[in-house]
Amino acid sequence: MVRVGIVGVGNIAAMFVQAVVYAKNNSNVFGVIHENIGGYRVSDIDIVYAVDVSKEKVGKDLAEAIFAYPNVVPKLIDMPKTDVIVRMGRVLDGVAEHMIEDFKPADYPEPTLEELVNELKSYRVDVLVNLLPVGSAKASRFYAEAAAKAGVAFVNCIPEFIASDPRYQKMFEEKGAVILGDDIKGQLGSTIIHRTLASLIAMRGAEILESYQLNVGGNTDFKNMLAQERLTSKKISKTMAVASTQPKPEDILHNLFAGPSGYIPFLGNTKVSYIYIKARTFMGFPITIDLKLVVDDKAMATPVLIDTVRLAKALMDRGVQGSPPWASMFYFKYPPVQAKSDEEALLNLYLNLERLGIEIEPKRLYMWKYLKNTMKN
Ligand SMILES: NC(=O)c1ccc[n+]([C@@H]2O[C@H](COP(=O)([O-])OP(=O)(O)OC[C@H]3O[C@@H](n4cnc5c(N)ncnc54)[C@H](O)[C@@H]3O)[C@@H](O)[C@H]2O)c1
Repeated sequence: MVRVGIVGVGNIAAMFVQAVVYAKNNSNVFGVIHENIGGYRVSDIDIVYAVDVSKEKVGKDLAEAIFAYPNVVPKLIDMPKTDVIVRMGRVLDGVAEHMIEDFKPADYPEPTLEELVNELKSYRVDVLVNLLPVGSAKASRFYAEAAAKAGVAFVNCIPEFIASDPRYQKMFEEKGAVILGDDIKGQLGSTIIHRTLASLIAMRGAEILESYQLNVGGNTDFKNMLAQERLTSKKISKTMAVASTQPKPEDILHNLFAGPSGYIPFLGNTKVSYIYIKARTFMGFPITIDLKLVVDDKAMATPVLIDTVRLAKALMDRGVQGSPPWASMFYFKYPPVQAKSDEEALLNLYLNLERLGIEIEPKRLYMWKYLKNTMKN
């Protein structure tokens, strides 16, 4: 079993909790990236702990809290009681001024670091998942430190640079725990599609002249990101994910924009992305790509979360510690080290898991067998 704790019972949590419960009663969950990681299937995930600060969520059973205001994920299953009561967390900078009505803090005492460490230990959490609002710099580090001190793995889904920070890598290493991150990449979200096109252009010998990726959505994630001062790391994470596919990333940075660009309430969890690329091809002839992508933003994040919590547990089982870059490359926008393409990132993951004797199925690289044999020779 993979005993998961959630920090931030928002829209991703609402889809993740339902998917995990669904998997217990259905052998096939459509769209999972890997059925088996280290012997763990989706049905082996148990959510045993959850923490939030909102008065709408703290003190409630998780089954009720995931549908509480302002979450907008619909009921996908008949959700039974979970007996996981949402605990009160530390507010710090998790609640922006303009979000006070959406995330109004509950009137409960906030835990100290020591108390949180003890809670994580007493609930026997294996993996703690960070799903706080963008810009929660202090709060994310507070929960990360608690996880490290409790010897619990940490999956950092948000654009705070923690798994990629040598100080936190060392902290987790010293406590014998794993940290994966930063900023989860959607299954088929705007980042991976923009990255794939950019990497294809470089692979075919052409050159990107300018590019943007505009994203709009209608949930609290997008509303929270209206505060420009909370966005610095999000823009860096999204921009670097695309620039890193190019031969000289620094040359394209001044002509590249990728970030959240607007909050349109009626969109709910639907995210609309506009990706534009102008490139120079043979003999300088131009090419323009204009692409519109429409996705459910939370359905994009959840399958990646489902993979990464099992991966974190499988790594802990094998005694892996700290922040192995190859474990985060495929799944996160801002890993400690970027791969030039997602194929390269996936190959790195497979080769390292094989070295550690951790199974992963199915293999998503169609040329996996050929590549493996080539590497051996
Ligand atoms: N495709 C995606 O959805 C995607 C991709 C990459 C990253 N992310 C990031 O994942 C994070 C979670 O996304 P979401 O849509 O679930 O967010 P959300 O806005 O729906 O939920 C955030 C939750 O955090 C809670 N919270 C605020 N401060 C807190 C604190 N100090 N302690 C505990 N809980 C606190 C809020 O009450 C709320 O329940 C966001 O930062 C988002 O940008 C999402």
